[in-house]
Amino acid sequence: MSSALTDLFPFPIVQAPMAGGVSLPQLAAAVSEAGGLGFLAAGYKTADGMYQEIKQLRGLTGRPFGVNLFMPQPEYAESGAVEVYAHQLAGEAAWYETELGDPDSGRDDGYEAKLAVLLDNPVAVASFHFGVPTREVLDSLRRAGTFTLVTATTAEEALAVERAGADAVIAQGVEAGGHQGTHRDVPENDGSGIGLLSLVAQIRETVGIPVVAAGGIMRGSQIAAVLAAGASAAQLGTAFLATPESGAADLHKQALTDPLFTRTALTRAFSGRPARGLVNRFMREHGPYAPAAYPEVHHLTSPLRKAAAKATDAQGMALWAGQGHRMARELPAGQLVETLAEELAAASTALSTKGEGERG
Ligand SMILES: Cc1cc2nc3c(=O)[nH]c(=O)nc-3n(C[C@H](O)[C@H](O)[C@H](O)COP(=O)(O)O)c2cc1C
Repeated sequence: MSSALTDLFPFPIVQAPMAGGVSLPQLAAAVSEAGGLGFLAAGYKTADGMYQEIKQLRGLTGRPFGVNLFMPQPEYAESGAVEVYAHQLAGEAAWYETELGDPDSGRDDGYEAKLAVLLDNPVAVASFHFGVPTREVLDSLRRAGTFTLVTATTAEEALAVERAGADAVIAQGVEAGGHQGTHRDVPENDGSGIGLLSLVAQIRETVGIPVVAAGGIMRGSQIAAVLAAGASAAQLGTAFLATPESGAADLHKQALTDPLFTRTALTRAFSGRPARGLVNRFMREHGPYAPAAYPEVHHLTSPLRKAAAKATDAQGMALWAGQGHRMARELPAGQLVETLAEELAAASTALSTKGEGERG
């Protein structure tokens, strides 16, 4: 492990922040206690909600942890696109006996207020998704003693992250579950993306800051692979989503290994921004024409998703999952960190033994 980031925790294993009530303080505490880096997700929360979770987590562990923020989004929906989508979703609202949400419920996710909390109550690590904070923000966090990470999905985005002055970059491959952290989504984005091993290599050749690799990683052998490709650590979401400490709905956890769900895809159907989930009815029916309009579509579909969950209808829920979902293990989070670390050690030994054998 080579960077100041991985000096903070023994194993190069980061539990991905997962908004929507998944990465609870209990999950982050279990991961940090076991020697990984636990993360809270501030997305969709108020600044005070975020602060309460930080306090709760501090009561559970004295070890370092991270907090993740969504970047405010510019307006880019074609005019009328959200209204048209709302019209197309009217049947869903009737089916679930609910109303559609107000698409204009808010677009900046309380970014400034959350930054103020993080500057008053510094945490070990802060990460950013959906864009790059200004140099001023990144510098002020560094002065507060916080290590900063920003997601990139291409080498160009990684360069923007480095130029803004972040301490490290998260290379998020197309395999990743949940939202792609693309800096700017536009309707022309066709959902194609770069596979993780290729992306890590491209980013390593483009920037000098440390790289954290995310996307489809479910086993220690895959962590060994991304470290061999030049990453300093691996960030895993779906693997931790399945643990008992995660706040994901039981239906969501069960769906990860349910043979009924055979594949994942990127979709704008639920939020208006490309995100990877298990393909279900809602995605199949509405994904093809959902507009690039985040967070309006997120707010619009919120009551539908809640009603589907209440009706235990997995076909109407956002079942975020990475491409490795079928390899999910229901281990307690601390045990999962230990198992991943053991698998990583075994894979690293195998790699070096093989190397020696070939040299000899
Ligand atoms: C349910 C879920 C929610 C997520 N929420 C966030 C989030 O709030 N912030 C963020 O930076 N990444 C989020 N991600 C993406 C992860 O940071 C990470 O890129 C991804 O989980 C890696 O792929 P994997 O799920 O295959 O391990 C989320 C992923 C999932 C599965």
